[in-house]
Amino acid sequence: MELIVTSLRLEAEGVLGVELRHRSGDVLPPFEPGAHVDVSFPNGLMRQYSIASPASDTTRYWLGIGLAPASRGGSRFAHHELRLGDTLPVSTPRSLFGLHEPATGHLFVAGGIGITPILSMIRRCVERDLPWRLLYCVRSRRHAAYLEQLAPFADRVTLHADDEHGGHPDLHTALRQMPADWHVYTCGPGVMMDAVCDHASALGIGTHAVHLERFTAGAQTPAETGAFQVRLLRHGGQFSVPAGTSILEVLEDNGVCLPSSCREGLCRSCEVPLVAGTADHRDYVLSDEEREANKSILICVSRAKCAELVLDV
Ligand code: FES
Repeated sequence: MELIVTSLRLEAEGVLGVELRHRSGDVLPPFEPGAHVDVSFPNGLMRQYSIASPASDTTRYWLGIGLAPASRGGSRFAHHELRLGDTLPVSTPRSLFGLHEPATGHLFVAGGIGITPILSMIRRCVERDLPWRLLYCVRSRRHAAYLEQLAPFADRVTLHADDEHGGHPDLHTALRQMPADWHVYTCGPGVMMDAVCDHASALGIGTHAVHLERFTAGAQTPAETGAFQVRLLRHGGQFSVPAGTSILEVLEDNGVCLPSSCREGLCRSCEVPLVAGTADHRDYVLSDEEREANKSILICVSRAKCAELVLDV
């Protein structure tokens, strides 16, 4: 889709709100709360941004774009060069971080710009009268976007500003106080999400009840593995994937171009069915059950635990 920038607003220090609409005023494709879109910038970069606006409003997408300290050009372009009236190619929304509505309630743990998809999920809870609470963690109130919109829900929102509280939020207590059969949703810095997962595990909260969305890949580099073969069932051909090169790159070098976006194991757009072989899953989005099932692989980052993988490509 070619969408037009109809509003730009500084939501907080380092957080730009970008409203996108069809030039013609047409209705936009629907999305689930927590969904994101791929945005392509004129400098050739493509980035994923979560939609903050309510899913019930299909006239526009409000994106929240945090200025990344080490921006490789995406958020820096948006913050410094994007102008009202600009047109941007935008994908249809994809949902990897949805609300599990059958849960008896929903605890949201947002860190910084991670509030963006969670705001849309909160709006769904409000519209459907679902129980929820939010722990919103920021460096300072200056960095806290959407406080005005959260103000009517002061009894359900806990704002943790590091500079006021002198340290990190007490995630363990927040999770321990979560009623039984609630689900927890977290989005923000990787260390915070890892801590939520660790505390949830220590408290016996099942992984089915813990939902997370990462914006960036972890800093840790997994142990390198050696070369392996990849065979394409329908396209035909067998290719060697050397250490340090992804399956996606090898296929592209051989003229087999498949969909991809983040190329960091975050967005799932490069997922392909796996017919044979055991994947060494290195993405951040497959569930434990999906890894165990070994039915698909994200070829931008994942590798093989065996000599050959056969892909249904
Ligand atoms: S391209 Fe995003 S997960 Fe592979």
